[in-house]
Amino acid sequence: MNAHTKAELAHSAFANTAEEAIAAQDALDNGIISSEEATEVAMQNTLLTPRFYTTDFDEMDKIDVTPVRKDWDVLIAQMKSDPNKGHFKKNEKWGKVDWDGMEPKLRAEFIDFLISSCTAEFSGCVLYKEMKRRGSNEDITTLFQLMARDEARHAGFINDALREAGIRVNLGFLTQQKKYTYFRPKFIYYATYLSEKIGYARYITIFRHLEQNPDKQFHPIFGWFREWCNDEFSHGEAFALLLKTDPKLTQSFQNKLWIKFFLTAVYSTMWVRDHQRPLFHEALGVDTTWYGQEVFRKTSEISKQVFPLTLDIDHPRWRPNLDLMEVASRQVAAGKARGGVGGMLTRLAGMAKATKAFVSLYTIPAIKHDVPQSTVLKPAY
Ligand SMILES: [Fe+2]
Ligand SMILES: [Fe+2]
Repeated sequence: MNAHTKAELAHSAFANTAEEAIAAQDALDNGIISSEEATEVAMQNTLLTPRFYTTDFDEMDKIDVTPVRKDWDVLIAQMKSDPNKGHFKKNEKWGKVDWDGMEPKLRAEFIDFLISSCTAEFSGCVLYKEMKRRGSNEDITTLFQLMARDEARHAGFINDALREAGIRVNLGFLTQQKKYTYFRPKFIYYATYLSEKIGYARYITIFRHLEQNPDKQFHPIFGWFREWCNDEFSHGEAFALLLKTDPKLTQSFQNKLWIKFFLTAVYSTMWVRDHQRPLFHEALGVDTTWYGQEVFRKTSEISKQVFPLTLDIDHPRWRPNLDLMEVASRQVAAGKARGGVGGMLTRLAGMAKATKAFVSLYTIPAIKHDVPQSTVLKPAY
């Protein structure tokens, strides 16, 4: 990634100024939203919304998995056996969802959660499918075909849940019209590895919490999370193996800085996004701050399988700067909504605050680890 793309990543929260996007977000805030508006929300590209990625597929096609062959074959065989084949279908456990009886603001946040999850799942599907289509390396195309299969199911299942609320994210339209962000392959590995593992940690943390507090399960989709997150876990395992094929990717000084950058960006984005859905977390009976730290803890523990460093999430500068990022992101959004010169100044001040908080987070000394010979892990949470 060049300096420009890096700056774009760090600053993209304020890059999207489309009025339609704001109008769609307003409609969403009121809990009344059409399929067109849902698709418009999914089209948004900010630091906080899921993006679509493209990469140098030829370079990825050249990966040689020989150094990890044994673990690779076991993982592929397990994915081919398709343990979740019948899982993403509604059954009697689903029941009737009372969308109309849902408190409007909670409904709005929950719909926002579903749209953003659907977009994220579909983003994986689009990227993986493209790799399968362009590649000729059988190991690589087989893996990406299997992962695309899973992500298509995941996105489709969420879309199905949204349909009951009268909403459908137009995935075909998204594929054609949503902006694609270019990442060179190694950044795809870091970002995708992390997003798969953090996805696992997010889904399993909610699932385990609801196991203990079944009265808080306000929508049946949470009951599907355990098997679901095992898919994400396997995808993360695959990326861990890909990272392991080339020791430089995780061991060189420069790449360690990149790993730290992606860890910080992914964690802080999740924190800010989740804190913007207070009613959703309240309805689940989850303290958002506890949830964030718990997900970071699990993700860090898992990522030791391949990353030689983890972030110090108990450092005194960690939480205050995440909170500052959140305040700054609200300020950027408020400036964007206001428009004009005043709005722009508000936005610029927000951007400066966010950058400062990010730098403060990034410069917290990381915790170093020895990385095991084999990356193989089982989903144990
Ligand atoms: Fe998924
Ligand atoms: Fe996944």
